[in-house]
Amino acid sequence: MQDMDLTQVIIGQSARMRQVLRMVEKLGRCRWPVLLLGETGTGKEVVARAIHNVLGERPFVTIDCSSMVGPLMESELFGHVKGSFTGAYQSKLGLIEMANGGSAFFDEIGELPLDLQAKLLRVLQQKEFRPVGSLTPRHSDFRIIAASNRDLAREVERGAFRRDLYYRLSVVNLRITPLRDRKEDIPSLIAHFMERYGNRQVLSREALDAILSYDWPGNVRELENCVQHMLAMNSGPLLHTAELPSSVQNHIQAKRSQYLVAAAAADVPRIPPQSPFPVPAGGDGQTPVILPLVELEKRAIAQTLEYTRGDRVMAANLLGIGRTTLYRKIKEYAIAS
Ligand SMILES: Nc1ncnc2c1ncn2[C@@H]1O[C@H](COP(=O)(O)OP(=O)(O)O)[C@@H](O)[C@H]1O
Ligand SMILES: [Mg+2]
Repeated sequence: MQDMDLTQVIIGQSARMRQVLRMVEKLGRCRWPVLLLGETGTGKEVVARAIHNVLGERPFVTIDCSSMVGPLMESELFGHVKGSFTGAYQSKLGLIEMANGGSAFFDEIGELPLDLQAKLLRVLQQKEFRPVGSLTPRHSDFRIIAASNRDLAREVERGAFRRDLYYRLSVVNLRITPLRDRKEDIPSLIAHFMERYGNRQVLSREALDAILSYDWPGNVRELENCVQHMLAMNSGPLLHTAELPSSVQNHIQAKRSQYLVAAAAADVPRIPPQSPFPVPAGGDGQTPVILPLVELEKRAIAQTLEYTRGDRVMAANLLGIGRTTLYRKIKEYAIAS
């Protein structure tokens, strides 16, 4: 549960993620409690680590409240002394004590049972706790970063979450927007995952199109899995729609048949909807177009800039080249943008 990999970057240039990054910088410099709210897979843990990393190398301990169940939960958190229960052959250090001097990331804190919520509050207020089976209080002082995919305020109203603990945790609330509401982050996230897991493959335009039109209920985690799935299915340099996971495939199918039904009702010609991502003339996006390379490059840049409505940063990301290279080529080819 203790993870030493602290080398995580936050990808995203949408206004919402830029705001999150500014908050990370600010919050990283103080030791206030932070409550991260957002659907599962939006990047709450990534953000928690980034906040912790601003100040440094002290321990970052992840406490996954949804995976700890039953009577062993208390001993996981607070540790126990030898012989405190059947099977406790040795004393054990709890996660709360491991976090001393650093940060404790309480993931899915909404899942913590009420009795342990009370004990946690005590630790936060008095910086003291007692391991299971011990009468001697022990000390631990850590910064708490909590995360939940539930609306904790509503859990408080329902009586499932302690109001006092909620107030203590929610000094600063940071909401992470679902991926469907910041789709402009998708191209750079894909580029990031392709670089991490791939071997210089590129996405076909149809595949990117499909990805951009899908709603990503599992957020960034689902997108990451999607890229891994495509890379595993693929053997060539170009990733095709056929290699998308079935969730995205089904979505394309459903959209297509919706369109056909609507087209039949409106009695319009049965051509597929206009792709938001431009395809070079004569190409279907899946098969290469035979054109001189420079001409291909020029068209690709012009069409990508048209698609991004002149946003050069996003265009460079989509094209997989650096910003300066893009600027140079725009000048070289005299592309109006
Ligand atoms: N902004 C981001 N940049 C890079 N990777 C991200 C980002 N957001 C999420 N991820 C990746 O997506 C996956 C899910 O993120 P995680 O932080 O575990 O989400 P949550 O805690 O909200 O469920 C992880 O593999 C993480 O590395
Ligand atoms: Mg998580």
